[in-house]
Amino acid sequence: MIEPHGGRLVDLHITPDSIPADLPSVSLDSREAGDLEMMGSGALSPLTGFMCADDYTGVLECMRLAGGLVFSLPVTLSRKAGDPEVVPGDVAALRRNGALLGLIRVREVYRRDRVREAEMTLLTSDPAHPGVEYLNGLSDTCIGGDVECLDLRESRPFREYRLTPAETRALFQDKGWKTVVAFQTRNPVHRAHEYLQKCALEMVDGLLLHPLVGDTKAGDIPAETRMRCYTRLLEDYFPANRTALSVFPAAMRYAGPREAVFHAIARKNYGCTHFIVGRDHAGVGNYYGTYDAQAIFDSFDPAEIGITPLKFEHSFFCRTCGNMATSRTCPHDSAHHVFLSGTRVREMLASGELPPAEFTRPEVARILMGAD
Ligand code: ADX
Repeated sequence: MIEPHGGRLVDLHITPDSIPADLPSVSLDSREAGDLEMMGSGALSPLTGFMCADDYTGVLECMRLAGGLVFSLPVTLSRKAGDPEVVPGDVAALRRNGALLGLIRVREVYRRDRVREAEMTLLTSDPAHPGVEYLNGLSDTCIGGDVECLDLRESRPFREYRLTPAETRALFQDKGWKTVVAFQTRNPVHRAHEYLQKCALEMVDGLLLHPLVGDTKAGDIPAETRMRCYTRLLEDYFPANRTALSVFPAAMRYAGPREAVFHAIARKNYGCTHFIVGRDHAGVGNYYGTYDAQAIFDSFDPAEIGITPLKFEHSFFCRTCGNMATSRTCPHDSAHHVFLSGTRVREMLASGELPPAEFTRPEVARILMGAD
């Protein structure tokens, strides 16, 4: 089984009775609560808490934690207006909308430069970028320190699909899969996605369809609808003994290349050996080059990342070839290809028109139209 990032799968789960009742409270927003859930289960191994300034700066400047391990995005906790002041040495309760999630042993309270963070991680400080918009809503003060948290999956959506890295690892072992490819997605699975997954499945033992179910931007399709699409597609078009479906609780950062590395490392923690990176992975608008999220992997020694990126070119259905293809396999120009923008697909679905079956399976399109 592939080693977790940093060599050890972190487990930070505790029971409610181990959290004293009289602690000061620190509030988490939805993204931070998602990150806490991820850290608790070991999905962000080797992280054991919200970053202090040394790790934060290392990640921003060199895509490395202070100890040198590759890590491409900051995982921070920002101080919220109205929360009591905490100082290093304090233990505080972590809460989301008042509900107890865990505790933090405060090691450091530090200031960050949000514009610099945006420029380094998102490669823009344009407020129209959803990741910049999120950062602009935060305070400049971060609270760093180790955390412990409750396993609250029973009360969270998609419980049966909310597997921890230890559970996906056990599942892969049960199934006898030595090589497993993970597929990150924030969209319904269209034919292009399916093509990538099936090309990968020709080479590896199993597919972990691993949709992100944390916060996404307005306009992205809600996770509830997407989950119905995924289960339907797997049932109808994939061999059951070669696939697993589980959710990824993180929020989307829309950080393109850096998020591709972050996504890959987390999937290694879940026990996957391969990770699909297609066109404009984790991108939004025109902030990143089409294949920047693939190129970034070349700036590291593959052993430092550990999981193998499987890079795919833009894929489409070619009417003349009569199959899914990319420019690596199809000689025809774009006039032969079925291409629909996201906006066009949304328009078609809204007006009750099924997108072509070459673009989206009709079973999936009907769910997206609200007809199934
Ligand atoms: S993402 O934000 O999670 O990357 P999306 O769910 O659309 O968005 O993409 C999931 C994965 O499929 C990413 O690796 C992305 O690069 C890849 N992908 C999406 N559409 C295509 C396509 N037409 N051709 C090649 N790769 C694609």
